[in-house]
Amino acid sequence: MTELRYRRLELRDLADIERIERRSYPTPWSRSMFASEIAKPSSICLGAFEAASGELLAYLIISRYVDAWHVMNVAVEPAYRRRGIASALLDRLFELTADDGRRGYTLEVRISNTHAIALYERLGFQGRGIRRGYYTDNREDALIMWKDPVREAAHG
Ligand SMILES: CC(C)(COP(=O)(O)OP(=O)(O)OC[C@H]1O[C@@H](n2cnc3c(N)ncnc32)[C@H](O)[C@@H]1OP(=O)(O)O)[C@@H](O)C(=O)NCCC(=O)NCCS
Repeated sequence: MTELRYRRLELRDLADIERIERRSYPTPWSRSMFASEIAKPSSICLGAFEAASGELLAYLIISRYVDAWHVMNVAVEPAYRRRGIASALLDRLFELTADDGRRGYTLEVRISNTHAIALYERLGFQGRGIRRGYYTDNREDALIMWKDPVREAAHG
C-alpha cells in the first residue's frame, strides 16, 4: 500500500503535473493554465505525493465561485489508479471546505467518462443536467453534477 502525503501544488510541480495531465486527457491543459490556477487565491490546488519518494501521483484543482466550489481538474498517474487516490483527494477537499456551509460542489464530466462518473456518484454527486456539445474537440456532451454542501448534508 502506497503511503501518501498531501500538500498544495507549487510552480516547481508543473513538470510533474504536465506529465500526468498528458497521460490523462485527449486535450490536456497547458502549463500556463495550471500556473494561473496555482496563483489564484480563489483556487485550491492539491497534490497527492508518494511519501517515500516525494513523487507526484495525482492532483485536484477546484475554484471558488459565488454559489459553489467548481471541480476543474482531477487526474491520477495511470499506474496508480483504482487505489482510492482520487477519492482521498476529493475527501480532503470536502474537509478543507467543510466550514463553507453555503457552497456545494459542481463539475462537468464527459458523458462517455463512465469511470469518473462512477467515482463522483460514490462521493455523493448527482447528475443534474447536460451541456450539449460542451467539449470543443469532439462536440461531446457534458454531464453537470452537483453535491450539496458537506456540513448541510451532514446535518440532514
Ligand atoms: C477518474 C480518475 C481521476 C479516478 O481516479 P482513481 O484514483 O483511480 O479513483 P478511485 O480509485 O478513488 O476510484 C473510486 C471509485 O470510482 C470508480 N472508478 C474509478 N475508476 C474506475 C474505472 N476505471 N472503472 C470503473 N470504476 C471506476 C469505482 O467505483 C471506484 O471504486 P472501486 O475501485 O472501489 O470500485 C482517474 O481514472 C483518472 O485520472 N482519469 C483520467 C482523467 C479524468 O478522466 N478525470 C476526470 C475528469 S472529470
